Amino acid sequence: MKDLSALIQENGAVQDRSIYWDEDIYELEQERIFARSWLFLTHESQIPLPGDFVTTRMGEDEVIVSRHSDGSLQAYLNSCPHRGNQVCYAEMGNAKSFTCAYHGWAFGTDGKLTNVPLEGDTYYSDINKDRFGMQSVAQIDSFRGLIFATFDAGAPSLNEWLGDMGWYLDSFMDVPGGTELLGPSMKSILDCNWKVTVENFIGDGYHVGWAHAAALDAIKSPLSFMKGNAAFDPKDNGGIQVATRGGHGMGIIWDMAAALHVNPAYHEWLEYRGAQVREKQGERAEKLLKGHWNASIFPNCSFLHGTNTFKHWQPRGPRSIEVVTWTLVEKEMPQELKEYLAVMMMMTFGTAGMLETDDGENMEGCTGSNRGWMTRQGKIYSGMGQINEGPNSEWPGIVNEGFVAETSYRGFYRTWADMMSGKSWEEMARGDGRRSIKEVA
Ligand code: FES
Ligand SMILES: [Fe+2]
Repeated sequence: MKDLSALIQENGAVQDRSIYWDEDIYELEQERIFARSWLFLTHESQIPLPGDFVTTRMGEDEVIVSRHSDGSLQAYLNSCPHRGNQVCYAEMGNAKSFTCAYHGWAFGTDGKLTNVPLEGDTYYSDINKDRFGMQSVAQIDSFRGLIFATFDAGAPSLNEWLGDMGWYLDSFMDVPGGTELLGPSMKSILDCNWKVTVENFIGDGYHVGWAHAAALDAIKSPLSFMKGNAAFDPKDNGGIQVATRGGHGMGIIWDMAAALHVNPAYHEWLEYRGAQVREKQGERAEKLLKGHWNASIFPNCSFLHGTNTFKHWQPRGPRSIEVVTWTLVEKEMPQELKEYLAVMMMMTFGTAGMLETDDGENMEGCTGSNRGWMTRQGKIYSGMGQINEGPNSEWPGIVNEGFVAETSYRGFYRTWADMMSGKSWEEMARGDGRRSIKEVA
């Protein structure tokens, strides 16, 4: 493997191409990133009742996430401790228990082993069932309905992990009634490295007018002004890009939350909700609520506030991901508005969405070109806006005034590099993504 400390350079602005291709780097990511980070599992709205469950992945590990009979959230490896068989094959449902198809061991909705066929006749009751439950995650918690878990008992709390990102999320998630994911999810396979999708959603405002020019034109929405970059005005670059501690980040275009929508109902909803958010959380929160966000939560979960898209990028080896997509809405929205937003999400960022297919082709290209050995020896660059970013009196994190920048890319890759080098939580807390180039210099 290449020298780990050389994979990310220049304060996060240079990436070695091998990180998008090499098997050994991918395996190390499973151990040092996915086995330690808080990872998105599902939303509470997907498992509201006792016995409700979904199956998902934490890195490459299959897990069952369930609402236990006592109402608690549980998550455990979807693999039978007897001979290792996958226990649950359904994507979601409601169950009183899970029974392995191979020899019939049965587990409760907390993952504990409850029944062993022929226990007295074959084991002579010499089996301690407490020892053989499905392996639980080390910590599980939810933030405004989003459920996360980590395999690392020593990881900081979910609130600490999200840090300033939690503050930003509150502007549109800490609302009366909360939010929900409309499912079932859409799923597709993309032949790209998982980081390519995360970095795009973390705030790539640069590609929007270019890669999506035709789609923006076809949609004929208020956002169409961005097509072809013709209307870009550097003096009125209306938004921000942010890298928060822990590798999270976003790009926000002010006043554009509903800009992909032609239906006035969503604009009216934002006015109605905006007044309440201003009252409770202040003017900054209202501004955030009315902005359009590209955002990623480290390591592999992204969303678009405004286009109501929520995505989980599940790695399937270094060159493939499964994309899982839901529509993210507020629970209190009128049913007709929810249905409209779900259709718009499908048309834009659903599996066959106009903008999704633009992105997918580029993401596969960014990964696939590294097939060439010589190509793979090189570097790629995300240095845009380094001299324009820094701590900001109004917004937490490292902030670039203007939404077209690569500030949030650099924050993501600094955290990625910290975790890949095996730093302790204490070391990362001291030095994580709050560094701008001005502070490093
Ligand atoms: S492998 Fe599950 S009961 Fe044997
Ligand atoms: Fe895009």
